[in-house]
Amino acid sequence: MDAKLVFWTLSLVNLGVVVGLALHGVRAIRQGRVEAHRRSMRVAGLLVAAFLLAYLLKLWWLGGEDKSHWSALAQWNLYIHEAFVIVMLLSGLLAWALAMRFAKSARVSGDPSDPAASPVTLRAHRILGRIAVISAAGGLLTACFVLAGMIARAH
Ligand code: HEM
Repeated sequence: MDAKLVFWTLSLVNLGVVVGLALHGVRAIRQGRVEAHRRSMRVAGLLVAAFLLAYLLKLWWLGGEDKSHWSALAQWNLYIHEAFVIVMLLSGLLAWALAMRFAKSARVSGDPSDPAASPVTLRAHRILGRIAVISAAGGLLTACFVLAGMIARAH
């Protein structure tokens, strides 16, 4: 197996763990477990950051992919995959920034003497968070096809 295939296989596993953690985080908040939600999303965010760093290093060491032999379908799948990843990054970052605005509120601490969180910020966080989780799942699905195509072309 060549180094690029190893990199993308590990990246797919990483994205699978990110989606698993995000779904776990959604289930936790729906059960009212705010701390478990925060922890899951934090580890998922760290794994995404680790992927971005590894991707930059991969570009530097191994270069980009030669797509001249990719079918039109494979190229379109890649564009859709990249779009999912970009939406995941932007909505995830915004959801995170909004969460920081209510991190010290009673909604998170459970202590009624702490300041109340703004309902608008909570709602915006919920919507952006859902967009991030859905696009991460879309990114994972399309990544499976990207990797399958790479493996098929390598044989
Ligand atoms: C990028 C990281 C994060 C993502 C993607 C995310 C995602 C989500 C999602 C999808 C929901 C709505 C769940 C549903 O469908 O009902 C939600 C709700 C919530 N999240 Fe996060 N979350 C993140 C980080 C955080 C952090 C760091 C905190 C705590 C400081 C937090 C606190 C909350 C709370 C309190 C709610 C409930 C909001 C409400 O009452 O409507 N989240 N989050």
